[in-house]
Amino acid sequence: MSEHVHVSCHPLVLHRLALLRDRATEPPLFRQLVRELSLMLFVEATTDLQLAPRVVQTPLAECAGQKLVDTIGLVPILRAGLGMAEAILELVPTAQVWHLGLYRDHETLKPVTYYSKLPSRPNLDACFILDPMLATGGSAVATLDILKRWGLRRAKFLGLIGAPEGVRAVHAAHPDVPIYLAALDSHLNEQSYIVPGLGDAGDRQFSTA
Ligand code: PRP
Ligand code: URA
Repeated sequence: MSEHVHVSCHPLVLHRLALLRDRATEPPLFRQLVRELSLMLFVEATTDLQLAPRVVQTPLAECAGQKLVDTIGLVPILRAGLGMAEAILELVPTAQVWHLGLYRDHETLKPVTYYSKLPSRPNLDACFILDPMLATGGSAVATLDILKRWGLRRAKFLGLIGAPEGVRAVHAAHPDVPIYLAALDSHLNEQSYIVPGLGDAGDRQFSTA
């Protein structure tokens, strides 16, 4: 895959990923794993955030330090992206959160937009689209289409599991958008579910299977 796709190889990610996939994992643990994986992937995806110097006084001496200057936006794709956004807000509590509601129509497999909570124009430096599953890529591409029409220039996609089909679709439509994943799986099945995947990420988080 291209240099735009970053698949984590961190042992703590891989350990949790297996638990997340396990069909025996119940929603409370599943949500905790989504939270922990999101935090770890977010750290991997943000090594280029901008800092400015600041001086702090320790109990012993003055010390050169840094502060984050980039403003951050999180775009969770409803529903399954919600657990990721809640986790990442713990690390960057000042982040703006813009909710976008999209679901895959079960017949056409095309994304249907049902909710959008964007301010009049984007006013931030770094934007992260959050969705655990990148299957056909239809939802991610539609989200990026919306955000770019709105004026956003810089975005990264953060997911937990991707399929090659989804990665290719995002890369074809938005080659400037890097993709960060915990795993890149084998393929999609006839219903466009990721194999081996984890099943339905929204249902497993919210006990709606
Ligand atoms: C899932 C998932 C993505 C989408 C991925 O959401 O959370 O948003 O499917 O599939 P795609 O790459 O083929 O578009 P779903 O449509 O099941 O909605 P939900 O989160 O409300 O359950
Ligand atoms: N959405 C999911 O939740 N899981 C998949 O495997 C594909 C789309």
